[in-house]
Parts: sequence; C-alpha cells; structure tokens
Amino acid sequence: MGLSEKLEVAVRDIENQFYLDDDFLIKASDFFEKSMKQGLAASKPSKECMPMIPTYVTSLPTGKEKGLYLAADLGGTNFRVCSVDLKGDHTFDLKQSKYKIPSELMHGKKADELFHYLATKINDFLCEHHQETTQKNGKTLKLGFTFSFPVEQTALDKGTLLRWTKSFDIPDTVGRDVVQLLQANLTVLEANVKVVALANDTVGTLLSRAYANNPEYTHANTVIGLILGTGTNGAYYATIDDIPKLKGVPEGTKGMVINTEWGSFDNTLEILPDTIFDQIVDSETTNKGYHMFEKRVSGLFLGEILRVALLDMFEKGLIFQDLYKARGGSLPHRLVEPWLLDSEVLSYIQIDDSTNLKMSELILQNTLRLPTNEDERIVIQRLTRAISKRASQLAAIPIASIVRVVKEQWKGDNRDLEIGCDGSVIEFYPGFRDAIMKSFNVIDPLKGSNKKVHLKIAKDGSGVGAALVAATTE
Ligand code: GLC
Repeated sequence: MGLSEKLEVAVRDIENQFYLDDDFLIKASDFFEKSMKQGLAASKPSKECMPMIPTYVTSLPTGKEKGLYLAADLGGTNFRVCSVDLKGDHTFDLKQSKYKIPSELMHGKKADELFHYLATKINDFLCEHHQETTQKNGKTLKLGFTFSFPVEQTALDKGTLLRWTKSFDIPDTVGRDVVQLLQANLTVLEANVKVVALANDTVGTLLSRAYANNPEYTHANTVIGLILGTGTNGAYYATIDDIPKLKGVPEGTKGMVINTEWGSFDNTLEILPDTIFDQIVDSETTNKGYHMFEKRVSGLFLGEILRVALLDMFEKGLIFQDLYKARGGSLPHRLVEPWLLDSEVLSYIQIDDSTNLKMSELILQNTLRLPTNEDERIVIQRLTRAISKRASQLAAIPIASIVRVVKEQWKGDNRDLEIGCDGSVIEFYPGFRDAIMKSFNVIDPLKGSNKKVHLKIAKDGSGVGAALVAATTE
C-alpha cells in the first residue's frame, strides 16, 4: 500500500526541494573554483569570501619522518590527546586518550576555562603514558595542536580564532592566539610540553595520509585532506604563485598547504540551494549566515534538517496527528528540541529494508522516544534519503574543484590521485562515498586523463597529522 495522495504530494514536494541536477553540479564546481581564487587573493577575511587560510606547512611528509611527538585534537565533541612514535617507514605507534568535553565549557564565558581543562587532560595523559616527562627537568615533548575551527594563522605556531563553528561559542576567545592560550595553561601546570605547531584537522588528515601512503605500492599521490563528520572541510597543497595574498615567505618556498574552510563556501547563497528547512536550521545556530555549505552537508546538520522537515509536516497536519492526540496535545521532547536527532539515526533509516520498516520503528522509539506508524516511517525514510543525497552531491563539489586545480601539479606523473578522509559521515554513512563519487564523475574534473581519484580513510588522521606538523619544526 502506498501513501495517501495528500501525503504523497507533500513528500514529493519536499523531495523536489532537495533535488539537484547535473547542470547545477557543474555550475557549482566552476563557482567553487572562482571562490577559491578569490579567497587566495583577499588579504582580509570576510563573510563573502572562502577563508583559504595559509597554514605555514610548506611540504608534505615523505613517510621517512621519525621521532616521538604529542598531539592534542580539539574539533567536535571530544578532546583527544595522543603520542605518536613515527617509525620512518610510513608506520607509527599511537597511544591515545579521548575525553568528552563538558558542554558548559563549549559555551563558557572564559577561554581559560576551556583551555585549562585541555591542559589538565594533556597532563593526565603524560602521567599515564609518559612518566619520563613528568619529573622536574624531565624530557620536554613537542606538541602539535589540532584546532579545527577557522583560525587566521601567521606562523606555524601562531593563530588567532576568527570565529567558532559547530557547537562551540566562547566569545572571549575570538581574536586570541589559541597556541598561547594552551601553552599558558600547560605552563601553569608545569607540564613539560612545548606547543610548536597549530594544525586544522584537514591539514592533519592530509599529512597523515601522505605519510602512510607509499605511492610505490598504491600508485597514487595524496592531494587532499578531507573531513566529513560533525563539520566538513578540506586542505590541499597550493603552489606559491596561486596564493597572491601570502606575503613575506622565505625565498625558495614552492608552495603551502591551504586550509580552505570550505564550510564557508557561498555564505551569501548565490548558488547553494536554500530550502525553508535550511533557513530554519541556520536560524538555530550560533554562527548564523556563516558556514552555509557545511550546514547543508555535515553530520551535525543532517539530523536537524530532517527534524525540522518532520515538524513542518506535523504542523501541516500530515504526520504524528494520532500521536499528538494520544499524548494529550504534545510531541516527544526529543523531536521538539533542536539538535537531538543524531545523523547516526539517519544512517540506519537510510538502508532499512525490513518489513514495514520495523527496524526504523525501533530506532526512532529508542533514540527519540517517538512511536510511528508505517506511513510516517515511509515519509521519514524518503526525507532521510533526499537530505543525504543532496549532502553527498554537494560534498562532491569542493573535491572535484580542487582536483581540477591540483591535477596541474601532477601533469608529469601518471599515478592516480587520492584523498585522505576522516569523519563519521564519510566513514560510516551507508553509501555516502559511492554517492560522492557519482557526482564527482558528473563534474568529471579529470576529463581527458587516465587518472582516477580514490577516497581513502585516514584513521586517526588529525592526531598523527599534528605530530607530523610538529616534526617539521627545528
Ligand atoms: C568546521 C571548522 C573547520 C574544520 C571542520 C571539520 O568546518 O570550521 O576548521 O576543519 O569543521 O572538523
């Protein structure tokens, strides 16, 4: 039995709003390339411009790097501390601890509250795993700090926060040097740690994949570091002539890794789709009007877009009507409150092929305390698929555009190109990588060459990458 006509029309209308055609992808990719160029030329960061941040990382690892380094990674909901022993043969040993950041620190008043917490966790990690550093005059370890927010970098170990993204909002941090904040708090604790480098998670992912990759065996060169999890972003190596805004780099510097901050692609919405649901989600965020691309693509937002669309259908009297009456005029609070529908839930619903969508019924009941009838589940699954399809199509745009730019660097080399990837959506969302590649092939940036592109999961990428950045310092 299909949906009633009224419900079918309403669902189809929403599906259509999320539909993107091939022409759009091609146009959007041209526009992305133009935005990259603008961002690389603009000397001041602005809302209209993709940040395209120079990272002061001037080469990619060869796989021969050696030594013990620390890495600390602040990016989403967890803080990770690790020590990485680089073996010099594309391999490494890793020890790590993960700490869930208390939400009051994510929205705190003072930067030091958060940075004191981070320093304490680094100190705890040293006490547990590296006693040799904890005595007075103990060995000082170099630390690479992965800080996955837009930072204006002026040196490898200097960077001021431009603005918070994802769920963080501690206003007094904006405009301050995050390396200094961390170092000062480590010094208070007398930890034998020197913060020598700052890296975005995408830069870490690019470097760690480049370290692990042995082109002799994979026949591919690593060209992009990509994150698609809570947020989305990418980094790549640009030749120096392509970065007009970069002044005063040492003679002989051939290029630099650029943190694109593509989450902020098309903040002015010249071409991005903008449904009423996207608008509502944006209005609920702390960085309204910014990171508009990310808000259509990454894990933090997919569930929220679905939740908002479902409430819209409820308000139009199309779904959850019996439930509402049975509860005496209310809906489960996890459905009503923003941000509680996790994109992991969507990943199960996406591929549910059980009879009457029984699996989705259980998941919705368990995660949202939301009882559903079969029609409602059909609606939820169709909307889930429409939202995730659009996200995968959009995700292909930066990848294809950057590949078109960097392919010039590899003209004389017939190996394939590979992209180091990390993040829950790219790693675990069913079918997401294939869907990205489908749209990538529509844009077809490698037209006329025999090269292919491979998406490679770079496990623990940002931690190992930060250690690799630290390893480049004297
Ligand atoms: C957000 C941040 C960016 C980070 C990305 C993935 O877009 O602004 O710096 O790389 O999330 O974590």
